[in-house]
Amino acid sequence: MTAPFPHALMPKAEHDELARCEFVQMFKVHLANKVRPNNRAIFDARVAPRLAKTTPKALTRHDVRRGMLADTGYQMWGSLQRTSQELLWDSVGDTVLRELPDMIETAGTQTKKRGSLRLADKSFVAPGYIADVDIHCMPGGYVTDLREDDLTAGGYYDFGVYWYTMSGLGSLNDEKGRTTLRFLNKYYPGLKPRRVLDMGCTVGHSTLPYCDAFPQAEIHAIDVGAPVLRYAHARAEGLGKSVHFAQENAEATSYPSGSFDVVVSHILLHEVSRKALDAIMKECFRLLAPGGVMLHVDVPLFHGMAPYDAFDADWDTYNNNEPCWAQMREANIQQILAKAGFKAGDVLERWSPVTDLHAFEDKPVNPRWYFLAARKPG
Ligand SMILES: C[S@@+](CC[C@H](N)C(=O)[O-])C[C@H]1O[C@@H](n2cnc3c(N)ncnc32)[C@H](O)[C@@H]1O
Repeated sequence: MTAPFPHALMPKAEHDELARCEFVQMFKVHLANKVRPNNRAIFDARVAPRLAKTTPKALTRHDVRRGMLADTGYQMWGSLQRTSQELLWDSVGDTVLRELPDMIETAGTQTKKRGSLRLADKSFVAPGYIADVDIHCMPGGYVTDLREDDLTAGGYYDFGVYWYTMSGLGSLNDEKGRTTLRFLNKYYPGLKPRRVLDMGCTVGHSTLPYCDAFPQAEIHAIDVGAPVLRYAHARAEGLGKSVHFAQENAEATSYPSGSFDVVVSHILLHEVSRKALDAIMKECFRLLAPGGVMLHVDVPLFHGMAPYDAFDADWDTYNNNEPCWAQMREANIQQILAKAGFKAGDVLERWSPVTDLHAFEDKPVNPRWYFLAARKPG
C-alpha cells in the first residue's frame, strides 16, 4: 500500500503512523471479508429459526435486528467493527493533528487564486443533524473549529476516507464525482451547463472532476462546515482547479432562483434529517434553471431489499453515529420530489452494482450506489 500524498495539503504520515493506518485498513478488510459474512450464517442457522417461532408475520429489518442483537457471534463482529472505526480516526488523527501547522502554512501559500472561498459570519448555525454528532465517529464532525484558520476536519476527512474506503475511490478520492459524470453523460448527453452546484461538498473530492468535464462552466460547491471548506479551497487551488466554495445550508441557500443548470450531491442525502430532505429537494428545484438537471448519488434505499440485507445495511444508524442514515433510505422519494415540483415523468432512478460501478441498472440488484436524477421542466 502506498501513502496517499497526491496533493500538497494532504497530511503526510510518518513511517509508524502509516503502518498503523495500514493495520487498521487490513483489519477492516479482514472484518469485511472474513467475519461479516458469518453474520448471514448466524442468521440462517440460529436467529431465523428462533424468529420463526416468535414472529409469525413477515419479518422486517427491525425484527432481524432484535434477533441478531441477542447472538454473541453477531455481538463480537459488531464490537470489532465499531472498534475498527474508532481505531481508524485515532490513527488518522495522529497524523492530522501533528501535521496541522504545516497544513495551515501550505494553505496560506496558495496565493494565485483561481476559485474563491466565502465563509458565513458568526451568526451562521449549522443544522443539528450535522453539528450535534461526531458523524461516522469522526472526532468533531465536519463543523468543529479548533482555531480560527482550522483545517482539522478537512484533514481528517481527506486522509480518513482514503483508508476507510480501502483506497477504492482513487488517490484523489474522486470516483463518486467521476461516476456521476458518467451518469450525466449517459442519460443527459450534450449538457453544456453555465453553472454547476455541488451540495455538501466536504473537501471537494467529488467536485473537482466537474472542472475538467465542464471547462466552460463556473463550478460552485457548498457545505455547512467551515474547516472542511477552508481545506477544500486550498486543496482545489493546489490542484489548479477553479471552484467557488461557500458556507451555505443546502436547505435554503442565498443563490437566486434559476442560478444553476446542474445541481449535484454525493452522499449528502443520507446525512440529513427527513425534514431537511424535503427542503433540499425544494431548494434544488428553485435553484435549477428551466431544463436544468439535478443528480444525487447516495447509498441505496431499503425499498426492495430483503429484510436481512436491509438490517445489515442499517448497522451505521445504531453504531456509527449516522442518525439519519435510515431516514433517507426508507423515504418515499417520488412523493418528496413531487412535492418539490418535479414531474414523475422527469425523474430517473438507477443503481450501480457493487461489481460494476460503470453499469447503471434499472433495478436495485446488489447495489453499491443509488442515483436519483430529475429534470426541471424547460
Ligand atoms: C458524506 S459528506 C459528503 C462528501 C462529499 N460530497 C464527497 O463526495 O466527498 C456530507 C457533507 O454534507 C455536508 N452537509 C450536511 N448537511 C448539509 C446541508 N444542509 N447543507 C450543506 N452541506 C451539508 C456535511 O457537512 C458534509 O461535509
